[in-house]
Amino acid sequence: AALLQNCQNLRGRRILITAAGTREAIDPVRYIGNRSSGKMGYALAGAAAGRGAEVILISGPANLPAPPGVSITRVETAAQMQAAVLAEFDTVDIVIKAAAVADYRPELVADQKIKKTGNTLTINLVKNPDILFELGQRKKQQILVGFAAETKDLMIHAREKLTKKNLDMIVANDITLPGAGFNIDTNIVKIIHKDGAVEELPQLSKQQVAEILLDKISTLLTKST
Ligand code: CTP
Ligand code: CA
Repeated sequence: AALLQNCQNLRGRRILITAAGTREAIDPVRYIGNRSSGKMGYALAGAAAGRGAEVILISGPANLPAPPGVSITRVETAAQMQAAVLAEFDTVDIVIKAAAVADYRPELVADQKIKKTGNTLTINLVKNPDILFELGQRKKQQILVGFAAETKDLMIHAREKLTKKNLDMIVANDITLPGAGFNIDTNIVKIIHKDGAVEELPQLSKQQVAEILLDKISTLLTKST
């Protein structure tokens, strides 16, 4: 019965989801990337569409098809993701930032392939914009959900991000645990709410984690409107 009630509980809502890792070019053939597969973000997008939401998925490069009913914008860099997200932000009710955004990019992108010359090569990196932080500054009625993938001091770092980025919820996972993290089909997460409440979930499929997160989000929506 609960499942049936949940069926269409995001109908009429617009939800923006970012997924996968960004890539920052070094030269025409190389980039700086990360291990994010996009599985968690795509699972969220598919599950939200299944509940009747209008889903805007902004994705870094990923080997995954767009889930049915989802409108997808493919980007490569953090700057492109930032532009795509900001273009939609005012029109959405919910943002879930599951993407692994590169924190830094090469200061200069070589226009020719860099040749192998010296014994060392130094690439100077400059900071990328923090997209989620910016959304936290701009937010009006939107529900903002972030992710924190950590290798140590999970709760300390996750709580800090929740506060600093002005989020409603953060999904924290310790990527050193077997059964959690990058490029696998399961995850082990803790959900931390703005009021400090913490919910610890067992190892679940990313689909199941997505459904639980959307349940929490729809509860927040019914409270706020
Ligand atoms: N995020 C973002 N823009 C960035 C970096 C991160 O929008 N330039 C978002 C991620 O999508 C995620 C959340 O912020 O939802 C936390 O990302 P994370 O990398 O864990 O946090 P950082 O603030 O980048 O801190 P650090 O990497 O130093 O842990
Ligand atoms: Ca980061």
